[in-house]
Amino acid sequence: MKKLIYLLAALLIMAACVPAMAQQESKALVFYFDYSENIDTTGLDVDAISQASMAGTRARDQSNLLVMVDVLRERVDADIYSLQVEELYKPDFGDLAEPARIQKESNEMLAFQEALPDFSQYDVIYLGTPVWWYGAPQSILTVLQQADLSGKRIVFFGIHRGSGFAGIPEEILSYQPNAEIVDLFTVECQTPNDEARSQFTAFLDQIVW
Ligand SMILES: Cc1cc2nc3c(=O)[nH]c(=O)nc-3n(C[C@H](O)[C@H](O)[C@H](O)COP(=O)(O)O)c2cc1C
Repeated sequence: MKKLIYLLAALLIMAACVPAMAQQESKALVFYFDYSENIDTTGLDVDAISQASMAGTRARDQSNLLVMVDVLRERVDADIYSLQVEELYKPDFGDLAEPARIQKESNEMLAFQEALPDFSQYDVIYLGTPVWWYGAPQSILTVLQQADLSGKRIVFFGIHRGSGFAGIPEEILSYQPNAEIVDLFTVECQTPNDEARSQFTAFLDQIVW
């Protein structure tokens, strides 16, 4: 009888450990493209670099996309990859808007400063980007067309200046039909950083996996 009780107890402990082990095996990647990390800063002074922003507001100090990357860094056990194009953009919106539009219109396959991560290692991908021209920037579209995200669970986080998610969910699924978008979050780019931080934190807490 005693042996049976020990055996049952051992089985219960093993059963309790299985979900925890499965969770540990699930690997996550934060993969993002941020404007402020993709501009050519040659010749700019430190102030100009720190102010490089499309938002044009003093309500926030930093790109809200980078604020969300920081939240993920603090809360999620994940590798982090910042996508940087080989040919950096001009810091001024007037000089950047048209080339970015043409890249998207012609579906140019962009080159990157570093090799892309091995997506096959990951189960969950936190994909972050601003809306550029009513959808994802061409950098992200290039990756979506070249990588295989089949079976990956994607949590999208973005910034916009009025368009919300725009066409991004459709773009993701059109290039990666076998990926699953678990949930999506976006914040208006002029939102104060602390507000964006708390909204995003609340969003992460309510994700149903
Ligand atoms: C080339 C370009 C195109 C953009 N197109 C859109 C758009 O279609 N819809 C939109 O809501 N915001 C658009 N934006 C604004 C961005 O989504 C983003 O919110 C803004 O760049 C804020 O970035 P920051 O936080 O780094 O300043 C565009 C920005 C750029 C640079």
